[in-house]
Amino acid sequence: MRHKVIAGNWKMNKVLSEADQFAESVTGKLPKDDNVEAIVCAPFPFLPSLVEKAKGSRLKVGAQNMHFEESGAYTGEVSPMMLEDLGVTHVVIGHSERREQFAETDESVNKKVHAAFNHGLTPIVCVGETLEQREANETMSHIERQVRTGLKKLSDEQIGTLMIAYEPIWAIGTGKTASSSDADQVCSLIRRVVKDMTSENIAEQIIIQYGGSVKPANIDELLEQPDIDGALVGGASLDPDSFLQLVEAGT
Ligand code: G3P
Repeated sequence: MRHKVIAGNWKMNKVLSEADQFAESVTGKLPKDDNVEAIVCAPFPFLPSLVEKAKGSRLKVGAQNMHFEESGAYTGEVSPMMLEDLGVTHVVIGHSERREQFAETDESVNKKVHAAFNHGLTPIVCVGETLEQREANETMSHIERQVRTGLKKLSDEQIGTLMIAYEPIWAIGTGKTASSSDADQVCSLIRRVVKDMTSENIAEQIIIQYGGSVKPANIDELLEQPDIDGALVGGASLDPDSFLQLVEAGT
């Protein structure tokens, strides 16, 4: 039976003092239940302090992006080696906002996923369709292409340990959550594609999250779905109490 993973994606929000206050108010209150894993994926400037404050607690700390090279002439970028050195454990890769605004592609996602594994980081690989693709019935073919290309040339074991977050672009930040059955349909497609790429065992092992206007009010129904193993949460992860409610829902 897979455990649940609730990951907060803070995006470009908070300042360091607010990030520290969040950690101080959350770390001691997380449920002591191994069936649920709690992660915050925060802006780079907060990572050293969050890693320090999360030490010895059940809170894990992730980044929201990284370059695929270890070092070099990439002004403004952050390398996987730097994240590993900080003690970060997870990294969101291929978020739709980076695909839209920073030319992230399935091919660059794949390079970053390989680089993440080379530095002991667990990738949270984002996939998702636009409203136009959904209305044109292109969702399933689009998601399949993103999964196959994003996970290309990974070992079965690597695929079994990464996470995939299905985030319909039209549901991100809009308050329009996908229905739990629609979300589960896509998550089961993702699991079928992983099974075809690897094996039944690996497909049963991989964590597949839903993201897109997840709130404490709708998390229970989403987590009841057979192929939804957690959530990647934006807005509702910024508030400590809301984040704790989301994690509690995974127990
Ligand atoms: O990565 C999670 C994010 O895209 C979802 O944002 O605010 O709709 O929960 P939000």
